[in-house]
Formats: sequence, C-alpha cells, structure tokens
Amino acid sequence: MSVLIMLASSACQPANSYQFASDVQVSGDAITAPLEGKSGDPDRGREIFSSRALGHCVLCHAIDGLDVDFQGDVGPALTNLGDRLTAEQIRMRIAGAQNIWPETVMPSYYRVDGLNRVGSEYKGKPALSAQQIEDLVAYLSSLKA
Ligand code: HEC
Repeated sequence: MSVLIMLASSACQPANSYQFASDVQVSGDAITAPLEGKSGDPDRGREIFSSRALGHCVLCHAIDGLDVDFQGDVGPALTNLGDRLTAEQIRMRIAGAQNIWPETVMPSYYRVDGLNRVGSEYKGKPALSAQQIEDLVAYLSSLKA
C-alpha cells in the first residue's frame, strides 16, 4: 500500500488540501524534484498529450504546430510554454492544478482522493503515473520559440 504524504507546512496549508500519490517536494508554485525520481521522455510526452485515451490534454489545450485535429480552448494555449514556465512549475500544474487554482476545471493528475470513496483497486492511484507526468513535463518544457 502506498504511503500518502503531503508536504505542506501546516501554517499555509490550502483549504482544499489533498494528498499527492507519493511524497513530493513542494516549493511555492512548483514541485522541485521529478516524481518518484523518474526521468521524462519528450516524445512519449507528446503522445500522452495528444491521446484522448490518456491525458485528454488536447480536449482543453492547443499547441501551435502539434499535428492533432480539434484542439480545445477551455484552457490557455501551451505554445512555447517552456519560455514562460520552468519544468518545476509545469510539474505542479499537471500534478496538482487545484493547488494553484482551487476552482479550476483542470484535473489534478497526481492527486489521490479521500480513501473512502473509491473501490480498493483504485485506492491511491492517480489519473496519470509519475512516469507519464514526467514525460509531459519533458515535452512541454521543451516547447520554446
Ligand atoms: C477540462 C479541461 C482541461 C484539461 C483536460 C487539461 N487542462 Fe490544463 N488547464 C485548464 C485550464 C482551464 C487552465 C488554466 C487554469 C485555470 O484558470 O483554471 C489550465 C492550465 C494548464 C497549465 C498552465 C498554463 C499556463 O499558461 O500557465 C498547464 C501547463 C496545463 N494546463 C497542462 C495540462 C496538461 C499537460 C493536461 C493533460 C495531462 C491538461 N492541462 C489537461 C484546463 C484543462
């Protein structure tokens, strides 16, 4: 069984505080170390981003030059994202969007919910794995003008 730890100082714990799927190192609006120590692959990240079966990212986000039809505009375009955000900031936005924007429609892909609401086979399982999120971080932070 996974150990659930949220590293947030009790003094500034957000009201909607929740648990990440593993121990993560949070600093401000960033997660400073790769999740579970995985290293990301940008090509796999592009596939996960584009796949409607995996991340669903293209339902809400568009990227100029990405070869996918019908990209969404619910969220901001992520073209040249690597010029605007660091890998550490991108990691937090994917793993825990609700840490940044409590009311956002964007799912927190590395969140695990309270332990009572889901069947045991889903307990402690985030929507995307640490490896998949690191692949996305590698892809998105490589997007530069
Ligand atoms: C249901 C819609 C939705 C989905 C699905 C979604 N996002 Fe988002 N995303 C948003 C919205 C909306 C925002 C802006 C935050 C806000 O204001 O709520 C955002 C913000 C972001 C940001 C910050 C962008 C910036 O300019 O600061 C990143 C990075 C991001 N999303 C990446 C992703 C990735 C990667 C995926 C897929 C794993 C994804 N999003 C899936 C809606 C979505």
